[in-house]
Amino acid sequence: MAVLSVLVLETRKKHRDRLRGKLGAAGYEVRLAESGPALISEVAAARPHAVVLDIDLPGGDGLHVLKAVHDAAPDLPIIVEAGEPTVEEAVEVMRRGAFNYISKRSPVETLLHVLSQALERERMEAETKEKAREHKIRTFDDPASLAVVDRILARHHYSDSMLISYMQDVQQELRYLPQEALRFIARRLNVSLPRVYGIATFYKSFSLKPRGKYVIQVCMGTACHVRGGGRILESFERELGVPAGETTYDERFSLESVRCVGCCGLAPVFIINGKFYGNMTQEQVPRILAKYE
Ligand code: FES
Repeated sequence: MAVLSVLVLETRKKHRDRLRGKLGAAGYEVRLAESGPALISEVAAARPHAVVLDIDLPGGDGLHVLKAVHDAAPDLPIIVEAGEPTVEEAVEVMRRGAFNYISKRSPVETLLHVLSQALERERMEAETKEKAREHKIRTFDDPASLAVVDRILARHHYSDSMLISYMQDVQQELRYLPQEALRFIARRLNVSLPRVYGIATFYKSFSLKPRGKYVIQVCMGTACHVRGGGRILESFERELGVPAGETTYDERFSLESVRCVGCCGLAPVFIINGKFYGNMTQEQVPRILAKYE
C-alpha cells in the first residue's frame, strides 16, 4: 500500500518533534515546512495527502496561509492546530477551508484520529466523483428529459420573465439542473447562457449535480458544530457510504452540510426534505434514516 504523506508546519520545536515521531510511528511519511511561503510552494510542487498547520504563525499569518493553501488545492485536507482555541477562530478557520480545528494541548492521538477521518473522506470523495462521472453520462443522454424541460417552458409560453420559476420546476422534475437543460433553456428563451448559469449558481437552492429523492442537510453552524454536528454528519456519511456534498448511487439520498439554519436552541440539527430534527445524537441517525428507506 502507498505511504501517505503529511506536510507539517509547526513553529514550536518540541511539539514539531513530537508530531514527527508519532506520525512517523503511525506509518505516515512526514515532511516539514519551515514557513508559510515554504508550505504553499511545497503543496504546489508535490501535493501531500494532508497538511497539519500551526495557526499561530509569526505575524498572524496563519489564516492567510490557510486560505492560500486551500485556494491552491481545494480538496486537500488541512488540519489546523491552535495553542489557545477560540470559537471565533474556529469559525474563521472553518470558513477558510480547514478540515478540522484542534488544540495543540490535545493528545497526538486526537490528531491521528482526525487525520484518518480526513484521508477516508478524501478517498470516498474521489471514488464518488468517479462514479458520478459515469452516472452523468448515463442520466442526461436522454431526450425524454429535454422533452420535460420543453413542456415546462411551454406552460408559460416561453416567457423569459419566468426564467427562475422555470428553473425551479425543472429542478423539481429532474431533481437537479443538468448542463444540457440550462443550455436548452437559454436557447429556447433566447437569453444568454451566462445569465442562466449565473442564476443557477447564485441561489443555494439550485443544484448542478444530481440530487437524491431525500435531501439531508446537516447544520454545521457554530452552535451545532460545538454540540456534535460533526459526529452527526459522520454518522450519515457512514450509514449512506458517501461524503457530504454527494448523492448515493441509487439516487435515494443526497447529503449536504449547511450553515446555521436558524434554530440554534435545538442544536445539533438536521433537515430531511424540509422536516427539522433537533437535539439529535449520532445514535438516532440510523433509526431516522430507516424511515426514509
Ligand atoms: S448553528 Fe445549527 S441551527 Fe444555528
